[in-house]
Amino acid sequence: MDNQLKIPRHIAFIMDGNGRWASAKGLSRSEGHRQGAEALKVMVDACSEVGIDAVSVYAFSCENWSKRPQAEIKFLFSLITQFAKNELKKYVERGYRIMFSGDLSQLPKTTFKAIQKVVDAAKNNTGVIVNIALNYGGRQEIVRAVNTILQSGLREIDAEMFEDCLYTAALPPLDLIVRSSGEKRLSNFMLWQCAYSELIFVEKNWPDFGKDTLTDILKEYSQRDRRFGGVK
Ligand code: IPE
Ligand code: IPE
Ligand code: MG
Repeated sequence: MDNQLKIPRHIAFIMDGNGRWASAKGLSRSEGHRQGAEALKVMVDACSEVGIDAVSVYAFSCENWSKRPQAEIKFLFSLITQFAKNELKKYVERGYRIMFSGDLSQLPKTTFKAIQKVVDAAKNNTGVIVNIALNYGGRQEIVRAVNTILQSGLREIDAEMFEDCLYTAALPPLDLIVRSSGEKRLSNFMLWQCAYSELIFVEKNWPDFGKDTLTDILKEYSQRDRRFGGVK
């Protein structure tokens, strides 16, 4: 890997295009999701290898529940449960930290249990942070933070206190958001955290992402001039 590259501390992936990847090959959408999970494995390890501190991935949005066929949702959660039991278990062994963003109380029980098990097992790890956004919505996260503040009885807060009430409170600032499949929108992802994130939109569908894709992304990110409101 080119050592001139700038490495973001926190990168996020909006993993989109599994369905289109599958349709283009005459396969079922489920096969697209299965290959999407394979791509996720490769990308997390690649991010850890280059020294990224935190990787967030958008796995299932609050909106996905009502906008997709029941059978697809069922398949997705069985895949996520398997991913937790097999892959996340390996992450625990490799020392990766594991966390989830989103309302986990609404998940199928078997998924919830499998997740809880790995989160618990990883709690003393010190490696890359893998943050999985599941049943997640950026607006919902903001409303949740507001409710936490209201319940505490505070009458006035600042931005730092607000951030402490988000799922990402313990994570470094979100440097870079990458979305696959050519769509150029955030779809309710990390609406607070994206304030100064760089955005990279990649034409490839998520299942086609690999180690080389990360290298291309990091090259592009390295050329960005992040000013945060300053002058150059
Ligand atoms: C992303 O792929 C996976 C999830 C949202 C879980 P899609 O399923 O959205 O794929 P497209 O956008 O239909 O191609
Ligand atoms: C974004 O993909 C959500 C996830 C990757 C989980 P969607 O496919 O659900 O988003 P839209 O419908 O294109 O905005
Ligand atoms: Mg999509």
